[in-house]
Amino acid sequence: MSPLFNKIIIASGPTLEPIDPVRFISNRSSGKTGFHLAMEAKARGIGPIVFITGPTFFLPPGVELILVETAQEMRAAIDGHFRQADVVIMAAAVSDYRSRKYYPDKLKKNGEKIILELVKTPDILLDLGRRKRKNQLLVGFAAETEDIFANAQKKLLAKNLDLLVLNEISEGNPGFGSDENQVYLLRRDAIKKIDKMKKSRVAAFIWDEILDLAGHGGR
Ligand code: CTP
Repeated sequence: MSPLFNKIIIASGPTLEPIDPVRFISNRSSGKTGFHLAMEAKARGIGPIVFITGPTFFLPPGVELILVETAQEMRAAIDGHFRQADVVIMAAAVSDYRSRKYYPDKLKKNGEKIILELVKTPDILLDLGRRKRKNQLLVGFAAETEDIFANAQKKLLAKNLDLLVLNEISEGNPGFGSDENQVYLLRRDAIKKIDKMKKSRVAAFIWDEILDLAGHGGR
């Protein structure tokens, strides 16, 4: 049997942007979604997987593991594999901003306030979308609180994605850190609501959709 894919890239976890030797900017991403996507792929015999992740406890076994910290490092690691990849899943919560300056000496609490200049990190997914070839599938994530479908649709097109996993962030669905999630799966031609369920089961629905987009049918 010929393998379904040459290579799958899953980017997971938060990124961590250093300020000084002991401080950084990051976010509450646990890395669970990326982990479950890798585990589900393995359970279905889908691979090989290159798993590129920021700091997390959730490291899947049996994958090529690349540990990174910053958005810049994550981008470089993905770039190293992008050409051979047929599927790229950007489940990582990439920090949107980093400190413009890295302070090699620990910042002292001298004054009452401190002003830190933040600059944008590279938008990895946007860049991949621009370089994507016809036979590559790009999956992105979005967390929205208002006008969720309009914003998500915009993101799907702007980043040239094949599939967007939309999290509606609300009190009942925190997404980040939780074991469960309620999402919508948006593609160019359809939108599907996935009821609130364990992230491991959400991962199965995401893979059903990817396989369908790749022309390999459902489970
Ligand atoms: N992403 C990325 N590089 C960044 C920021 C985000 O690759 N510097 C990816 C994420 O991995 C995710 C998607 O882009 O797949 C999220 O897009 P983004 O525009 O950051 O959406 P939101 O997180 O919903 O944030 P925003 O409030 O900016 O809409």
